[in-house]
Amino acid sequence: MREQIMISELTTMRIGGPARYVVEIEQVEDLCWAYEFAEEQGLPVWVMGEGANTIGHDRGFNGVIILNKLRGIEIVAEDEKTMTLRGMAGENWDRFVEFTTVRGLSGIETLSKIPGTLGAAPVQNIGAYGRDASQVLESVEVFDTKTREITIIPKSKMNLSYRSSRFNKGEDVGRFVIVSVTMKLSKGQTLSAPFYASLQRYIDEHNVTDFSPQNIRQMVSTIRADKLPDPQFVASSGSFFKNIYLNKNEADEAEQKGIPLWRNEDGSGKINSGWLIEQCGLKGKQLFGFRVSEKAALVLINESATSYIELDKARTEIRQKVLEKFGYELQQEPVEVSE
Ligand code: EPU
Repeated sequence: MREQIMISELTTMRIGGPARYVVEIEQVEDLCWAYEFAEEQGLPVWVMGEGANTIGHDRGFNGVIILNKLRGIEIVAEDEKTMTLRGMAGENWDRFVEFTTVRGLSGIETLSKIPGTLGAAPVQNIGAYGRDASQVLESVEVFDTKTREITIIPKSKMNLSYRSSRFNKGEDVGRFVIVSVTMKLSKGQTLSAPFYASLQRYIDEHNVTDFSPQNIRQMVSTIRADKLPDPQFVASSGSFFKNIYLNKNEADEAEQKGIPLWRNEDGSGKINSGWLIEQCGLKGKQLFGFRVSEKAALVLINESATSYIELDKARTEIRQKVLEKFGYELQQEPVEVSE
């Protein structure tokens, strides 16, 4: 147990004041202990993995931050076509992806190089290049802080949608600590053209015909390395804003306004918020110690900011400009540590 640790040191965006207590959990049994400790002290608990999608406030957190360090990956089932893996929540996500692709397993290869832990994958239903975690998730094992028991939640009870689940939205937020994640992968190559636009562009430019999990991982890693900052060297939380999902009527309206959008077969659609930000002339702009990435306008890079106040000013300016020009309210992607 450590005391008075700056949240800026625990998160990739590198802002946020002191947390009263920080405890690293390496065994499931320690979770119960940590919650009992917090209860005795009358303090709230916040669970974090690698802090890749978490923002701290300047006031810090008067409570106990649990760092999930539960490790291990095992094969729990296998048949001719599939392999089911269970990984502990504190495993590094990309290590888990690599574990699958080196075995020729398909399902999460396009999610290569996403920062953070395996346990965070279901929380915000991580996604990239047209795929997301919901397509392979089977279940999660959780510590239920209400009952102090370990239970299993199947995918059907997770309310998964774009960057969202019952773990980050609704009345259950903060109730469950994810202990392990079970995913079912397919043996061999399952993905085929056409791929998500930016991946397809790369495939066309390089005349790629090998769509094996290993090769897709390789391509995605190259594309990401070129566009997205590596949080180890550059402070950011990846995409700071979400893309905008529209029903058919809203999509028709957007089209009439001349906004480019991706349509689904049922007429619903998606607007790239990065495009909206770029059209407002903000791409590459410096704002209060932050910079809107020159390569991906959804990404906010912390160049020199040391406070949440600066972040608030930067995001307000971006949101206001997009609202004034296009009439859309951008939603923030990372979560904020709160009591
Ligand atoms: N675009 C622009 N300008 C920009 C950025 C994007 O016009 O500055 C337009 C382009 O038309 C481009 C399209 O948006 O073709 C899509 O851009 P990109 O492939 O870079 O993806 P994104 O929509 O900006 C999303 C995810 C990323 C994920 C990529 C790739 C969200 C919030 N972000 O970004 O996820 O890696 O797709 O699949 O959905 C993250 O969540 O932290 C993250 C990095």
